[in-house]
Amino acid sequence: MQLAHMTWPEVERYLEAHDGIIIPTGSTEQHGPMGLIGTDHLCPEAIAHAVARDDEVVIGPSITVGMAQHHLAFPGTISLRPATLISVIRDTVMSLSRHGFRHIYFLNGHGGNVPTVQAAFSEIYADSTHAASNLRGEGPPRCRLANWFTLPDVAALARELYGDAEGQHATPSEVSVTQFACPEHIKSAALPPSTLHSSFPTDADDFRRAYPDGRMGSDSSLATPDHGRRFVEVASRAVKADFARFCRT
Ligand code: NI
Repeated sequence: MQLAHMTWPEVERYLEAHDGIIIPTGSTEQHGPMGLIGTDHLCPEAIAHAVARDDEVVIGPSITVGMAQHHLAFPGTISLRPATLISVIRDTVMSLSRHGFRHIYFLNGHGGNVPTVQAAFSEIYADSTHAASNLRGEGPPRCRLANWFTLPDVAALARELYGDAEGQHATPSEVSVTQFACPEHIKSAALPPSTLHSSFPTDADDFRRAYPDGRMGSDSSLATPDHGRRFVEVASRAVKADFARFCRT
């Protein structure tokens, strides 16, 4: 179920028996000449919706803009500062917690979000420890960050299909998932080989100099919609099991 398609009495009924929610989390950033700007939120959305199809799970609104400062030299990229993203995560968790959601599962599609989302969780736990409510033993809601692309079965499938051509950005695996999820927006482009550098450019202009077309060692042209279907199947199975385990903690 998508929260957006529910009424408040339906949410209230859901909360009588459940207290978990999945929030797709991503970015709005360049993904090379044939990857969509929305790739990093379209992927976790496709996987979350597959999880929700055959299970009683609520999927919250996506966080579609993340920490993408190093991609800002490419048009179309939008980035939140780490402090802004921390506030977005924190206010999202605290709003849901007020209604009785106690297990908030962020299904993430963008590596650049990871340190900031984890810092947001630390802020939430610190708020709770310092608050008087903690004296009543309520404790904070539990938060979990799961990156779909590092799930062991997903990483194994990417290795099997693409080897080193998976690269680190605008990967054929993420492009495949968007081709499966949005077949009306499949793009093609001539792609020269993309070489990975040993150090990560932190400045946006340096990034564009190091990776002129936006890819990082990946061959996005290996992507197919059928590969995308396989990634969504494997990832949604793993997320479903991981979410169920998390909700029991
Ligand atoms: Ni990406």
